[in-house]
Amino acid sequence: MASLKPLEFKWGIIATGRISGDFVKDLLVDPKTRDVHDVTHKVVAVGSRSVDSAHKFIDRYIGGDKSVNAYGSYQGVYSDPTVDAIYIGTPHTHHYENARDGILAGKHVLCEKPATSNAAELRALLQLAQEHKVFFMEALWTRFQPLTREVRKIADSGVLGEPVLMHADLAFDADIENLPTTHRMLDPKLGGGALLDLGPYPMIWAIVGLYEHPSNSGAGPSSISGAMVKTPITGVDSATSWTLTFAKSGMQAQANLSVSMVIPSNEPGVTIRYRKGVIKVASPIFCPKSFTVEYFDDSGKVWKEEKRNYEYVGSGWHFQADEVARCVREGKLQSGLWGWDKSLLEMETFDEVRKQGGYVFPPGVEKVV
Ligand SMILES: NC(=O)c1ccc[n+]([C@@H]2O[C@H](COP(=O)([O-])OP(=O)(O)OC[C@H]3O[C@@H](n4cnc5c(N)ncnc54)[C@H](OP(=O)(O)O)[C@@H]3O)[C@@H](O)[C@H]2O)c1
Repeated sequence: MASLKPLEFKWGIIATGRISGDFVKDLLVDPKTRDVHDVTHKVVAVGSRSVDSAHKFIDRYIGGDKSVNAYGSYQGVYSDPTVDAIYIGTPHTHHYENARDGILAGKHVLCEKPATSNAAELRALLQLAQEHKVFFMEALWTRFQPLTREVRKIADSGVLGEPVLMHADLAFDADIENLPTTHRMLDPKLGGGALLDLGPYPMIWAIVGLYEHPSNSGAGPSSISGAMVKTPITGVDSATSWTLTFAKSGMQAQANLSVSMVIPSNEPGVTIRYRKGVIKVASPIFCPKSFTVEYFDDSGKVWKEEKRNYEYVGSGWHFQADEVARCVREGKLQSGLWGWDKSLLEMETFDEVRKQGGYVFPPGVEKVV
């Protein structure tokens, strides 16, 4: 096969908070260090509510590069003709409006998790992306990491048989008693709480482990049931558990998922139990560095155990950036690895679990209902 000329993909960054910095640090890691030779990344614009903050961000993360355009508004980035794609690093209650404005300006979009505040907002965005022929993807970075791809490969090979039961947990002690109530984790006006902030990660593993498994044939869950613990501080969920049952397509399997922002994570973070073995993925489940596979003999005893470890330069956010650049080059509107159906499944699940848990956002938070 003839080798492709490396594509220099040009990013505009929306918001100068914590995750935007992490993402940009990874964007600037030489792709060759992860054996990527067909794309490179360049940040050409940064937008913030304050131009001073945009300049500080460029100084801190992009070596003060004077060629990067600094804007005191997000609109400046949407309108910048040098930008191929925008990366949205605002709180999720802002994702719908930010992505909508970017799409209307003809930009491709990589939007932080969770994609939106609810499924209706996401459906509206996907419709717009379709109409304007731009790429849109939720930044579910874990799906693109080499470890996740390998887990999927082993499951697909059939050596472990069908999945039956899995558990995935993401928890951390956010010290919520001492957080300002305006922090995005606690503020209901920013869609705060454990489910929307941490929930995308147990969901990505349920999707990889069950939804994507060949024996499921792409069917959604046959039932979703959830329960929430609400903190008296602001009324958002401090912990949530939910179960997805997959029984529509011949598969008979369940995912038990949990999140908490008051205790540390469990180990292993993900356990996927198949008829002929188990995959155990180490915490933290958003960026695990190892997993083990146990193979069962006919009596159900472990006869072989394998451990795989992963190391790379950077923190793991760059793999999703490579995916965006490749998809755009190929004229795709969505990724084959983390497509629109998966983000929709995630947002529909969150809507249902919030409904069952009695968590209603304050008026005005949801821009589309
Ligand atoms: N993938 C991951 O590993 C990961 C990790 C953490 C967070 N996230 C996701 O990334 C998003 C941002 O999280 P973060 O931790 O980076 O938050 P953050 O540090 O609070 O930054 C959010 C930024 O959004 C902008 N913003 C616009 N309107 C805002 C408002 N009303 N309140 C607060 N900020 C506002 C601000 O940037 P300007 O002042 O520059 O406009 C702010 O710095 C969330 O969707 C979160 O779930 C993902």
